[in-house]
Amino acid sequence: EYKNPLGVDIDLETGVIPGAKKLVRRLSDLKGYFADEKAYEELLKENPVVYEVYAVEQEEKDGDLNFATTVLYPGKVGREFFFTKGHYHSKADRAEIYYGIKGKGGMLLQTPEGRAEWIEMGPGTVVYVPPYWAHRTVNTGDEPFIFLAVYPADAGHDYGSIAEKGFSKLVVEEGGEVKLVDNPRWKE
Ligand code: 6PG
Ligand code: NI
Repeated sequence: EYKNPLGVDIDLETGVIPGAKKLVRRLSDLKGYFADEKAYEELLKENPVVYEVYAVEQEEKDGDLNFATTVLYPGKVGREFFFTKGHYHSKADRAEIYYGIKGKGGMLLQTPEGRAEWIEMGPGTVVYVPPYWAHRTVNTGDEPFIFLAVYPADAGHDYGSIAEKGFSKLVVEEGGEVKLVDNPRWKE
C-alpha cells in the first residue's frame, strides 16, 4: 500500500504549516528548566508562550519521516535566553536536520557525557544533528526564531535527563553579548 505524497507551504513569516498539529509550550510547561528560579517565578505571573510547534507526523515506523516547524519567541528568564526543552531521541541513534527560516538563534547540542557544542542559526542555516546528541534551540534575538526540523518517524522524544540535569552549558546574555557559561546544576 502506497501512502500519498504531500506538499504544503510553510508561512515563512509566521512559521505556520497549514493542517499541522499545533503544540503550545508556555513558561509553566518549563518548570525547573531555567537556572534563575526567582526570575522564573516572577515571569510565571505572565506565563508567556515560549514556543509553538506545528508538526506533520506519520506512524512511528522505521524509514518514514516527520517534519515540524518551531516558533520560538524572544525573551529571557534572568540572563538566560528562551529555549526549547531539548531532548535525546527515544531511539537515541536517530539523527535530524534543522533548517533556519526566520530570526536569530542557535542550537545547543550535547553528548550523553556532557560534551556541548553551540551552532549559530539564522535564515538558511542547515544543522545536522548526529545520532545520540541531545538538542535544544535558543532564541538569542528580539523577534521570533523560526525553523524547520525533519526527523525519522520512529525517533520519539526522550525529555527525561535534560529535564532533570539540563545541558552542561547555559546560553546567557552578558553585556549585550551571547555567552555560553557552565551550568552549575550540571553533574554527570
Ligand atoms: C523533534 C525536533 C523538534 C522539537 C521542537 C520542540 O525531534 O521533533 O527536534 O521538532 O521537538 O523544536 O523542542 P522540544 O521537543 O525539545 O520541546
Ligand atoms: Ni529532535
